[in-house]
Amino acid sequence: MRHPHKVLLLLLVSAHLAVFAREDKPGTALDLRIDSLLSRMTIEEKVGQLVLMTFRSKSAVDSTALSPALEAEVQAGKIGSLLNAVGADLTHRIQRVAVEDSRLGIPLLFGFDVIHGFRTVFPIPLAEASTWEPDLVRQSARVAAVEAAASGLHWTFAPMVDIARDPRWGRIAEGSGEDPFLGSLMAASRVMGFQGEDVGDQTSLVACPKHFAAYGGAEGGRDYNTVDISERTLREVYLPPFEAAVKAGAATIMCSFNEIGGVPSTANSHLLTDILRGEWGFQGFVVSDWGSVAELQEHGIAATHEDAALLALTAGVDMDMEGNAYHDYCMELVQSGKLSVEVLDKAVRRVLRVKFMLGLFENPYRSASSDREQKTILSPSHRQLARDVARRSLVLLKNDAGLLPVREGTGLIAVVGPLADDSESILGPWHAAGRAQDAISVLRGLRARAGKRILYAKGCEIDGNSTGGFAEALDAARKADVVIAVLGEASSMSGEAASRATLGLPGVQEQLLDEILKAKKPVAVVLMNGRPLAIPGIHERATAVLETWFAGVEGGNAVADVLFGDVNPSGKLPATFPYSVGQIPLYYNHKNTGRPPVDSVKWNSKYIDSPSIPLYPFGYGLSYTRFVYRSLTLEKLRISPGEHLKVSVEVLNAGDRQGEEVVQLYIRDLAGSVTRPVKELRGFVKISLRPGEARTVNFILTPASLSMLNPAMKRVVEPGAFLVQVGGNSRDVLTGRFEVSGD
Ligand code: GLC
Repeated sequence: MRHPHKVLLLLLVSAHLAVFAREDKPGTALDLRIDSLLSRMTIEEKVGQLVLMTFRSKSAVDSTALSPALEAEVQAGKIGSLLNAVGADLTHRIQRVAVEDSRLGIPLLFGFDVIHGFRTVFPIPLAEASTWEPDLVRQSARVAAVEAAASGLHWTFAPMVDIARDPRWGRIAEGSGEDPFLGSLMAASRVMGFQGEDVGDQTSLVACPKHFAAYGGAEGGRDYNTVDISERTLREVYLPPFEAAVKAGAATIMCSFNEIGGVPSTANSHLLTDILRGEWGFQGFVVSDWGSVAELQEHGIAATHEDAALLALTAGVDMDMEGNAYHDYCMELVQSGKLSVEVLDKAVRRVLRVKFMLGLFENPYRSASSDREQKTILSPSHRQLARDVARRSLVLLKNDAGLLPVREGTGLIAVVGPLADDSESILGPWHAAGRAQDAISVLRGLRARAGKRILYAKGCEIDGNSTGGFAEALDAARKADVVIAVLGEASSMSGEAASRATLGLPGVQEQLLDEILKAKKPVAVVLMNGRPLAIPGIHERATAVLETWFAGVEGGNAVADVLFGDVNPSGKLPATFPYSVGQIPLYYNHKNTGRPPVDSVKWNSKYIDSPSIPLYPFGYGLSYTRFVYRSLTLEKLRISPGEHLKVSVEVLNAGDRQGEEVVQLYIRDLAGSVTRPVKELRGFVKISLRPGEARTVNFILTPASLSMLNPAMKRVVEPGAFLVQVGGNSRDVLTGRFEVSGD
């Protein structure tokens, strides 16, 4: 498909209309049903619809046992939704209590963190973003929805769409990296994958883009920390993926833990009402993050949990996750007159609308059944898609002397490193229902491909300082023709509450590499990690480096497919790799400053003890073949503000094997009414070329591509000179120049 994103963008508009078109006209049949139900609800029952609690089994041995306390709360209509209740049987038993034993029989919503797969765990979202294939990511989310829905789930707390410019922040693993353009396409794709064509379909999950907003902007990359950014940075960097997700029809949104400039998102009416509903027309409901309503007291913006409840509900948070604030205080707030019934009803109406849209009042059990679970979970086709996504997410960062793919005729291969046989970490930090026993480790994948040619020695642990395994690893390296060292982070070192103050390999892994290098054999380092790492030493000493992130349940097979050349790697980095943690934040779409870094000159913006450039730039990734870019052509050198501009480039596969290349287009507005980034991704397309084949790739720059927010925060196309840059990454580009006229 020539321009999959165009199809995607068309789908976005239709999806948004599909999900909400029938509701945004007052007096529709759905609204009448909601009004009718609302009119029969007591205040207590209304509050119950705004309460989301986690499922807690009453028994340590039976994880599906219902506690009497939970049953009583559900029967009384004091809980409207549950998270972490998983499985057709368990959800059926709890739903029956709600539907048959409560006064009004309002069905529960069952939510869960289906972030990148359910039981068929796909590569982490940062890896999926490395494919630069939005439609492939949509397919991955679709499979996740089909499996989760069969297990009785209605709602996923995903996609996580937070832009992240600081790899010290562990949750960079869960998002699509540092760029708003790529991140927006991925956000919309995942929403469409989860919700499908019709959120009422039996295989659909209600999506919940999170964490609104700017959670990734935490100072120091420390999770939950203060965010203090300008309105411009908020709107240009952090909001676009959320807007794309809303336009794609997302039916719920989760607000974030952090504050922005003194106002926590959970109490931020500018975010939750003015922007989300006022500017974007969002009509679903907003759920808090875990306890983030009650935490307003910790933030110091509410004196009590009761004040916190009033603040959050009034700002636009419709449902309280696990915080008890709404559960414990909303009744009192209404009775005291502090909380108006109108505000309460508005929130309840939004929640009921989603339950009606899901069809829960017609069929509260939907398609969930243990039979369907058996049929859909980990099916061969799901595993195959997981393997394909994993293959296409791997990023080749170095390949000197064409070490990879492993050549025919290679004898013994030594596989070393603490992550080689780690089938837990390969699932990533948010693998929810995924199980290590279902996963193929790298070692298992390599053994399946090369059998007895594989020697294995772990060498060391992921962390810690024991070098007791070094000798065995060196011995294996000495016996082999080539060494594959699987190094990186445990999955617990990224994800939530897993920020790092350093970005090197943990423990003694670099020392292990030095040890096996004594065998004088070429080493390919296979990285398994949840964030960009600062690994100049690895880059220096390894002959080849393959970034695999956490590649999911089929990860080991996908890595073997690429290492042995059955698949030519085509991934590109969605986030910058620095030389050192001291350079952070380091991202490609930075401002130029008045004194951009020039190494030969002292008086400009650079470090005296570190490079100012990245180790690997945004958009970077090699192939087993070689692509040459030539003949960048602009259809015109001067356009009017409303005109489109066609940009063409020829790409040649100059190597000896088929390969796929992500052709990337960046612009730079050289002089705006405010300063502009030195580069902004505004288009990309992944093409496949046979050896020797050349193809002309065309892009269309539209007014939207060239637009910016002027000082009044109005989106405009300003006259002046622009650069357009095209290449296989954000650094190595061909550059053209054009003018936008003033008329
Ligand atoms: C966590 C996370 C959020 C997740 C929620 C439910 O604290 O911040 O991403 O969806 O709780 O598990």
